[in-house]
Amino acid sequence: MSFPIERPRRLRRTATMRRLVRETHLRADDLVQPLFIVPGEGVRTPIESLKGQFHLSVDESVKEAKRISAAGVPAIILFGIPETKDATGSSAWDEQGEVQRATRAIKEAVPELMVITDVCLCEYTDHGHCGVIHDHEVKNDPTLELLGKAAVSHARAGADIVAPSDMMDGRVEAIRDALDADGFEEIPILSYAVKYASGYYGPFRDAAGSAPSFGDRSGYQMDPANVLEAMREAELDLQEGADMIMVKPGVAYLDVLARVKEVFGRVTAAYQVSGEYAMIEAAAEKGWIDRKRVILETLVSFKRAGADFILTYHATEVAEWLKEG
Ligand code: PBG
Ligand code: ZN
Repeated sequence: MSFPIERPRRLRRTATMRRLVRETHLRADDLVQPLFIVPGEGVRTPIESLKGQFHLSVDESVKEAKRISAAGVPAIILFGIPETKDATGSSAWDEQGEVQRATRAIKEAVPELMVITDVCLCEYTDHGHCGVIHDHEVKNDPTLELLGKAAVSHARAGADIVAPSDMMDGRVEAIRDALDADGFEEIPILSYAVKYASGYYGPFRDAAGSAPSFGDRSGYQMDPANVLEAMREAELDLQEGADMIMVKPGVAYLDVLARVKEVFGRVTAAYQVSGEYAMIEAAAEKGWIDRKRVILETLVSFKRAGADFILTYHATEVAEWLKEG
């Protein structure tokens, strides 16, 4: 046999051949679109740091939900920006809160679209931390009950999945207990199990007005240098009853995503966060990258690394592209 024995290029020669041997596929079914809900009516204000994303009032979120569902995206995740904030984030469990009202309205208008709700306090606390503060410290155990109340209020509004993003210890068990006690045994928990203290959340914190007013989140979110700790976090959340786990941010943590998926073999989501989105949009605006190509390449990398689904601000647009073929 003459050299070279193997010629991998044989299987790359035509577009059809490449289609035949492709290992990973990105589908609209894999995508979750985040939405930001604000007070008021008829509000659809562009978010400066997240070009192409909007602050939506409840009525406008219903219109958006119809468009998202029509594109073939199976789920949205809701973040609320409340009228008032206080020390304990009490509007997080207000039955008339933005997320609760949007959930009711969207489930009524587009029942087939799944509503995931982000369960955290940072959008609702006046200090911007994800838990309650005593002596300048974010206290773990007193926060758990409040997270449970928020999750129950979301379930009562009709949420299909609740997704705690606070990184308090023991919160999955606390939320599971609270949901079960209120008759919501069937509502799954998507835990932000592996969430790093990341600079990539910057545009989100602008959009949600949730930047901490003192200190940072390193006392509860994870150190970017750690992966054994990520495995422990995922294991604990699964033991506490998480139905699905998430790794966040995305591209900078694909190694962690791959390891979590391989070791636990459970439904695992990835979050391509606001800073990742903003970087693609900014470079594309400069004309430095091919926007569509980079977006698709990035999202398929999540699938390749093992993600079952991806939370991304590009979800609806990409679903429309995939539909067009
Ligand atoms: C709330 C929360 C954050 C994000 C999702 N849920 C912000 C944070 O932890 O500061 C980030 C999402 C993004 O950057 O796109 N805890
Ligand atoms: Zn938070």
